[in-house]
Amino acid sequence: MPGTCVVGLQWGDEAKGKIVDLLGDQFDYVVRYNGGANAGHTVVANGKTFKLSLLPTGVIRPNVFSVIGNGVVVYPPRFLEEVDQLAKGGVDVSGSLVMSDHAHVIFPYHMEEERLLENGGEGKIGTTGRGIGPCYQDKVGRRFGIRVGELLRPDHLRERLRFVVPYKNRLMQAFASGEIETLKIFEPWALADEYLRYAERIKPFVKDTSKLLLDALAAGKRLVFEAAQGSLLDVDHGTYPYVTSSSSLPSGIWSGSGVPAKFLTRIIGVVKAYTTRVGQGPFPTELNDGPEGTGERIRRVGREYGTVTGRPRRVGWFDAVAVRYTAALSGADVITVMLLDVLSGLPELKICTAYDLNGDRRTHFPSDAYQLERCKPVYETLPGWKEDITTKRKLAELPTAARRYIDRISELVGLKVSVVSVGPDREQTILV
Ligand code: IMP
Repeated sequence: MPGTCVVGLQWGDEAKGKIVDLLGDQFDYVVRYNGGANAGHTVVANGKTFKLSLLPTGVIRPNVFSVIGNGVVVYPPRFLEEVDQLAKGGVDVSGSLVMSDHAHVIFPYHMEEERLLENGGEGKIGTTGRGIGPCYQDKVGRRFGIRVGELLRPDHLRERLRFVVPYKNRLMQAFASGEIETLKIFEPWALADEYLRYAERIKPFVKDTSKLLLDALAAGKRLVFEAAQGSLLDVDHGTYPYVTSSSSLPSGIWSGSGVPAKFLTRIIGVVKAYTTRVGQGPFPTELNDGPEGTGERIRRVGREYGTVTGRPRRVGWFDAVAVRYTAALSGADVITVMLLDVLSGLPELKICTAYDLNGDRRTHFPSDAYQLERCKPVYETLPGWKEDITTKRKLAELPTAARRYIDRISELVGLKVSVVSVGPDREQTILV
């Protein structure tokens, strides 16, 4: 098994970190290939809880090498903060964490650009505000993108910022229109000094990570790729334009880490037993049934609040049309069903099996947001269960209705379920 990918098949926050954790000692390297500090995960090591956004969840495992690939966008203060947070908690990653010299750097003007665009009202995407989109825009636009490797060359960095920053200031003035008084103006020299200070500390972590990974594969090492965000947020195949700016599907691995697809031998698709989404965009199975309704109950029990922004997540029924689409696109071999315990106590459960689009029944997911907005879910209703299932460790111990629910998801998605999670702890897991 040289390469495993753990990928979320919904709109993110599927508890992928728990699956990486369950893989235990089945890998030697953990790799992030997309996104940045827009992801959020809570990990526990040495009895301490760490809140990470940029580093992979596998970073806390002993004897595992962690890689931030070239497809990631890095905000250096956040990187250092997470490294320091781990060190304070007794987890020293100085010899086991590397970052690609080709990864792009997020600057404060990226966040400011995003703030102005998101506050502008029209065209709001509901982003995390971490500068992700503007940084990727600069990457593909080529003229203003700055890579991690460039931070290590002081004169070059000053020269780059002397060129980029005035342009950014003008751009932001144009975006700001009514907001001139709150507009931040950036000074190239001050920014260069600040980032050169980060560079001093970052330097030992910076490597040619694609070579490092190919060498590791040649040496027979096993890799796990942690996809950030969910497949429905993939910039190409997600619900565009309400997506993130990177390739969150396993297709992003080749470009985002330099590891060719032929090394990917196992793809684990992770789903929640229901659906959540943060930010704007269509969500056919969303439950908008008020403060006493099922949606609010699931949100409360599942603690469905964004790890990065604290925003309440939008909550809805399991959408088998969407997951069948992402399972196929990601090439998933199996699915793992997370947070099943959150549904305990609901009298009945719904699964969306098709959409109604202007009277036509559709079973294929229209990834175009404008079409999806007009889709009405067609539901199948299944009985719920009353029992607390958080102590169950075997499929056979689950109530019949819970087993039926899992079986139906498996049938509709067309993949076997390999893990059912019934609580946040490692032990609260059913291996099927
Ligand atoms: P951005 O990635 O900050 O540009 O945000 C784009 C969209 O992706 C917004 O709807 C965010 O809420 C969503 N998003 C980004 N990262 C995550 C994540 O890790 N989990 C869930 N949603 C995310």
